[in-house]
Amino acid sequence: MKPSERLSKLPPYLFADLDRQKAAVRSLGKKVIDLSIGDPDLEPPVALVDALKTELSRKGVHRYPSYAGSVEFRNACAKWLLSRHGAKVDGEKEVLALIGTKEGIGHMILGMIDPGDVVLVPSPGYPMYIQATALAGGTAHLMPVTKETNFLPEFDAIPKGALKKAKLMFLNYPNNPTSAVATRECFEKAIALAKEHGFLVCHDAAYIEISSGTTRPPSILSLPDAKDAAVEFHSFSKTFCACGWRLGFVAGNSEALRALGHIKENMDSGVFTAIQRAMIYAMEELEGHIAGLCSIYASRRQSFSKNLERMGFRVFHSDASFYIWAELPEKQGSIEFCKKLLERTAVAATPGIGFGRYGEGYVRFSLTVPTEELEEAATMMAKL
Ligand SMILES: Cc1ncc(COP(=O)(O)O)c(C=O)c1O
Repeated sequence: MKPSERLSKLPPYLFADLDRQKAAVRSLGKKVIDLSIGDPDLEPPVALVDALKTELSRKGVHRYPSYAGSVEFRNACAKWLLSRHGAKVDGEKEVLALIGTKEGIGHMILGMIDPGDVVLVPSPGYPMYIQATALAGGTAHLMPVTKETNFLPEFDAIPKGALKKAKLMFLNYPNNPTSAVATRECFEKAIALAKEHGFLVCHDAAYIEISSGTTRPPSILSLPDAKDAAVEFHSFSKTFCACGWRLGFVAGNSEALRALGHIKENMDSGVFTAIQRAMIYAMEELEGHIAGLCSIYASRRQSFSKNLERMGFRVFHSDASFYIWAELPEKQGSIEFCKKLLERTAVAATPGIGFGRYGEGYVRFSLTVPTEELEEAATMMAKL
């Protein structure tokens, strides 16, 4: 049996190697402190789990959900966007429920590009943008994001040819892996460019709620003309420590949402109604949980960053996301460094090159393990 040609277009998956290395260390009976995965160790609020339990026994919730998400859920998302981010959208026409943002991103690419089209993607960046582009037959054009520009793209450096063929541009702030936060000017430029060249900006805001800064990271939808050329992906995975629930939403340009909705009608059957209903409750009643969560990540960041700096890493300072992006102390390959780290200390971190060519020379540490384990990791690493 031969799988599709399409699969052979996928770039090599570096994280599979890391998984194998972790398994090998565990097989020696060692405990791996895993700072390589963005999956929160913290639990969702108890009241949210209780709300889901209540919803599970409600009559009718076990039937097929609506494809787009219930009107109540979409209106709650619109209210959330307005109150938290100053972004005005129509819940019925400009919001779609997603089975997590990963699903929405993959299907948006499928709904918007044809073979040969270009997708502008940040490098380093969330690998999904390139993988889904490859599966849809498109070409990814890398936009380097480097420390010189605070990890924001240099739009002026994008070649005219790539702009001409571009159908989509991905931005992601607060950023995975760099933890950088966008400026409004960055979004303004992206929208102006998108309008000029007729492409759609897809802003992945999966970490927008994870910030301990004095001002909230901006939403692209808070710009007055954003809906002409942009959509924004929001996730409940990190906000409510509910990665396994698989719920997110996308809001913005209604034409793009129609294309995505069309793909989804043919590919999936929506999000479990009980989960949508419980998350309406979270948006309406549990906003207060977010500040507590962010202060836990902030204190973990502060102490682990200090330890890394003591070891000679150059840490990019941020108060958003739950990642630390650190430049390696000496010129060395990030894969080799992470392999050595894992073998000698049983601490797993992600090599920067796993996020694309321009991530080389860096390592990403995820703050999603208990504080004691972070301290243990720092002690082990100091002996490296
Ligand atoms: C940048 C980014 N976007 C999207 C996702 C996917 O999140 P979700 O759980 O909503 O599918 C992740 C997950 O880690 C991510 O890092």
